[in-house]
Amino acid sequence: MTGRLTLRNKKIILGITGCIAAYKSADILRSLVKKGADVWVVMTDSAQEFITPLTFRTLSGNPCITDMFDKNNETMPLPHISLSDGADLLLVAPATANILGKAASGIADDILSTLLLSCSCKKIFAPAMNTKMWESKIVQDNLKKARSLGIEMVEPDLGELACGQIGKGRMAQVEMIVEHVEKAIGTVQDLAGKRILVTAGGTKELIDPVRFIGNMSSGRMGYEIARAASERGAVVTLISSSELSEDLPGVTIHAVQSAGQMSQAVKEHLPHNDALVMAAAVSDFSPSKKSSRKIKKGEGPLNISLEPTEDILGSVSGNKKGKIVVGFALESEDLIANAKKKLKEKQLDMIVANDISAFGAKDSRVSMIEKNGSVKKFPMQSKYDTANRILDRMF
Ligand SMILES: Cc1cc2nc3c(=O)[nH]c(=O)nc-3n(C[C@H](O)[C@H](O)[C@H](O)COP(=O)(O)O)c2cc1C
Repeated sequence: MTGRLTLRNKKIILGITGCIAAYKSADILRSLVKKGADVWVVMTDSAQEFITPLTFRTLSGNPCITDMFDKNNETMPLPHISLSDGADLLLVAPATANILGKAASGIADDILSTLLLSCSCKKIFAPAMNTKMWESKIVQDNLKKARSLGIEMVEPDLGELACGQIGKGRMAQVEMIVEHVEKAIGTVQDLAGKRILVTAGGTKELIDPVRFIGNMSSGRMGYEIARAASERGAVVTLISSSELSEDLPGVTIHAVQSAGQMSQAVKEHLPHNDALVMAAAVSDFSPSKKSSRKIKKGEGPLNISLEPTEDILGSVSGNKKGKIVVGFALESEDLIANAKKKLKEKQLDMIVANDISAFGAKDSRVSMIEKNGSVKKFPMQSKYDTANRILDRMF
């Protein structure tokens, strides 16, 4: 792995249990947030004896969850389940002997211990306790068991403890814990310094002010490419005709509607970028005449004459000036042969041949064909994974 790691777009649940070291969790939280993570704090009852939820609510910008049975929590009626949705990591720091024992035995008697069971994501504990507790047979047995269940440990340090004794049991340093998190779930910033232009969505060609000719593209593929490239450190501009309203942190989005507008936006932005990924499903045809008023049903039957839209990739390829250009092909028959033809005709660096089932779906099965003729087939995978495989091969 090369380059810096980022936690951008990562959802982390930070569990805090009842130790003196709980005050250090505020520094862990600040550091994770600074590195781009979306952090949700969950506190046990004992943890709240040491530090208040207000501190964590303020620093995280998210509600601090303390009660599984909170009747006033209408936004999250099942926090012990819904909080784990989309979570990349459950970090318990500090972790008491008590939570370690619960994790090792499957006890779920409060919000944090229940989340440990409902979260399928990676889990890391940073235990902290008195040396005698740490060295006790049962704690060591629980540690072993928890490890065997897949929980990673950032082991405590040797040093002076809150009780004045010297020995092993002090929570590992904040920097060590954050570094462990970065190594576990961080994304490499291997595209730092690159500028990438991405298009997404199916264009709409107006027939009259309310009707259009469109296609089934959701824009998901372009969105995932923009998301993945931004996470990997690139400066990303997305030209989108998609209806998706998802947050893409760090991505500059320009909304367009028609093929003509998309073509104009690509020409405007391409000179400031190192690469173009044309994931949009641009309409091949547009009505020759657009009615300025809504066409009445009684005016039918209607014959709409269509004219070809501008070939965006074709117009770009003659003027690439060293930029990397990636196109997409989606065909109902002879996919690879047609994709190879398009790659050559449009002088692309790579073409991604999409099975027609990818339209509007969350997953896709693609083949990537490079200008040297190599064809790499990928299994059915999420479009986010496909996006990363495309970016892997582009630079
Ligand atoms: C002042 C004080 C400090 C404590 N420090 C620790 C500690 O460092 N590690 C630990 O495992 N338990 C510690 N405990 C005991 C836990 O708070 C206790 O076992 C509690 O039940 C843990 O609950 P929780 O795991 O749900 O947060 C401490 C208790 C007190 C009163």
